[in-house]
Formats: sequence, C-alpha cells, structure tokens
Amino acid sequence: MKKEISKLVIALDGPAGAGKSTVARLVAERFGLTYIDTGAMYRAVTWLALRHKLNMPNQQAELMGLLLDAEIKLLPAEKRSDSNETFQKVFLNEQEITEQIRTPEITQSVSIISAIPEVREHLVKLQQRMGAAGGVILDGRDIGSTVFPKADLKVFLVASSQERALRRQKQLMSLNIDCKLQDIQNDIEKRDYLDYSRKVSPLRQAKDAILVDTDNLSIDEVVNQISHLIEDLTCS
Ligand code: DC
Repeated sequence: MKKEISKLVIALDGPAGAGKSTVARLVAERFGLTYIDTGAMYRAVTWLALRHKLNMPNQQAELMGLLLDAEIKLLPAEKRSDSNETFQKVFLNEQEITEQIRTPEITQSVSIISAIPEVREHLVKLQQRMGAAGGVILDGRDIGSTVFPKADLKVFLVASSQERALRRQKQLMSLNIDCKLQDIQNDIEKRDYLDYSRKVSPLRQAKDAILVDTDNLSIDEVVNQISHLIEDLTCS
C-alpha cells in the first residue's frame, strides 16, 4: 500500500564512511524529510565521557548518570561556505559540539561507548521517539535491524575500505583536520571489526534491506537510486 511521504520511516545503515550522512541529508532535502544522524548521537555521548575524563568502560554508571540528565539535540546542517561537506548540528545541553565530535580522538573512542548496552538502550529509545511520527530518514548501523525493524524502506550502503578512507580524508580536510590516508583506512577497518563483532546490535544488513554498493557510484547516482525506491512507495 502506498504511503504519504510525511509518514515514511527510512533506515539507512552501513559501515563507517560509506556515504550515509551525505546521502541521507540530500534525500531528506529532496523529499522534505527530517534527517537523524544517529552516529552523531553516539559521538555526543563519547564527547560527554571524554569531557568528564571518565575512564571507559569502567565508569559506565557515572556516564549513565550524566547521560540520563543530558539533552541531545540535532538540528539541520548549515552549508559551510568553505566546503561541500555539511554535518548535522549537534547540541549537548545547549552547547554546540558539531565540530568537536568529529575529531580523531572522538572517532577512536566511539566504538567503546557504542558497545555499552545501557547507552544503546537509551539512544535507541530517543531515536524511536524522534522518528515515531514518520517523515524521517535515519542513518546508522542498527536502524533497520533494531531501531525501526518495521521501517518502510531499508537501505544498506557499502563501499570498500580504501574508497571509504579517501572519502573520510576529504571530509576531515574540509574541517582542517590533517590525517594520513593509511591511518584513516586502518581506523575504518578497526571500526568495521568492532561494529560487526560487538555483542549488542552489531552492524548487520537487515534481511529486507536493499544493498547498494557505492564504490563506483557518484553521490547523485546513489541519491537517485534511493529516490526511485521512495517514489515507488509513496503516493504523489
Ligand atoms: O556514523 P559515524 O561514524 O558517525 O558513527 C560513529 C560511531 O557510532 C560508529 O563507530 C558506530 C556507532 N554507531 C552505532 O553503533 N550505531 C548507530 N546507529 C550509529 C553509530
């Protein structure tokens, strides 16, 4: 049965650097959907842990105390004048941390934080609340499998680790963060391993997700493929 676009829930999952955030933002813009970058939420929690100098994973109880009192807010990205890259704006307790959560330090620690079951449980509930009314596209690792197992459309984006490292390097350069390509590729492969092997909600392609390999596709081609899938689902 066809649905109104304003009621749709779209899940976009895949490993780090597969292009999910750029694709999700462009699809959201095209169809007037709300974009929810769930990775940014795990990064915000990581920032909170580092800011309070918590020793993870030992000080989980302290982290949960801070997290349950915290407000994480995501706002639409503003286009940067100096780059094509945009990140969703992220606020934690009214403090903007959009750029702070993209540093290599956060990227290195986020897998430890995102493997903590209590953190996941809390963020999954928030994400379900944020998407409950529909008209949303969420990107992450477990959207189609755990957060919205009944999503109207599930897409699983993949790309080789070399291609993903090149894209991540460009993204970091746009933030004036200098990083060696090999270091980024090593980090991506390590995060893949941690994301795929963690006990709670490991990264998995949901059975009913559509696989899109983006290695030889431009961003526009990926956005167009997903747009056709959305148009097939919706009434105009
Ligand atoms: O997409 P990203 O690189 O910004 O995500 C940051 C980390 O958060 C990534 O290492 C895995 C984790 N993550 C997760 O476990 N579940 C999600 N739904 C989104 C991200």
